[in-house]
Amino acid sequence: MNLVIIIWPEEMQFFMGKFTAEQINQLNNDLKTPQEVLKWAIDNLHPKLGMASSFGAEDVAIIDMMMKINPKARIFTLDTGRLNQETYDVMDEIRNKYNINLEVMFPDQNEVEQMVRVNGMNLFYQSMGNRKLCCGIRKVHPLNKMLVTLDGWITGLRNDQTQNRAGSKKIEVDEQHNGMIKINPIIDWSWDQTLDYIKSNNIPYNKLHDKGYPSIGCEPCTRAIKPGEPLRAGRWWWETDLEKECGLHADHGNK
Ligand code: ADX
Ligand code: SF4
Repeated sequence: MNLVIIIWPEEMQFFMGKFTAEQINQLNNDLKTPQEVLKWAIDNLHPKLGMASSFGAEDVAIIDMMMKINPKARIFTLDTGRLNQETYDVMDEIRNKYNINLEVMFPDQNEVEQMVRVNGMNLFYQSMGNRKLCCGIRKVHPLNKMLVTLDGWITGLRNDQTQNRAGSKKIEVDEQHNGMIKINPIIDWSWDQTLDYIKSNNIPYNKLHDKGYPSIGCEPCTRAIKPGEPLRAGRWWWETDLEKECGLHADHGNK
């Protein structure tokens, strides 16, 4: 009887989503620019790779880079049903400019119906628990539904947005999502760098950015900021919790 020894090729590990800590460290050292990070991700993970876009400044900048690398790269968005008209406007502008087959994820109808039947339409203002319930049903659950089909996802996170995001890297293992790969190509960019890229590449952007909204979520949960306020002060403005996260990028128990 012949003994067959199978040697597991290194590259196969990429497709299986099994990266060693050393490999991830090496990639973070080697890949310098957002475009290099994105090219690596697309080359190794497409089509089981999706960019999560809320069509804020960071996301439209990344979409522009992605479309220049591979026009077939996948973009998805979580339509909570409570977004601003300006967000739908830029969504369509970007969709048309780059001819994107945008994948729109909606919340589960039964979950939303049950939630508002019990708690009302504006439940998020009543308590932190209700706010997280709403974010869970309208954002986190649809995200999870998409992520279980992928090996990697791309985000527009930046280090200076929250304490929680300060330690994030360009490429990381996403423990919150079953160890898949999370790619944050502009994690070390500033807000001004992001705006500069948008302007110099003539990219459509959310018009709320011109009206004092640097960070944009759902319409009832986002307001413009005042001069000198932190960039995320307008998100869930009635809450004092420093974290200001909805559960997409931090485990808030609303899976
Ligand atoms: S949030 O967790 O506080 O809502 P934030 O608005 O800062 O997140 O956006 C950070 C990143 O999360 C975005 O760049 C994008 O990758 C992803 N994201 C946030 N909201 C959505 C959404 N509605 N649809 C898809 N991706 C989103
Ligand atoms: Fe609900 Fe507000 Fe969260 Fe949007 S941001 S999902 S409206 S609680």
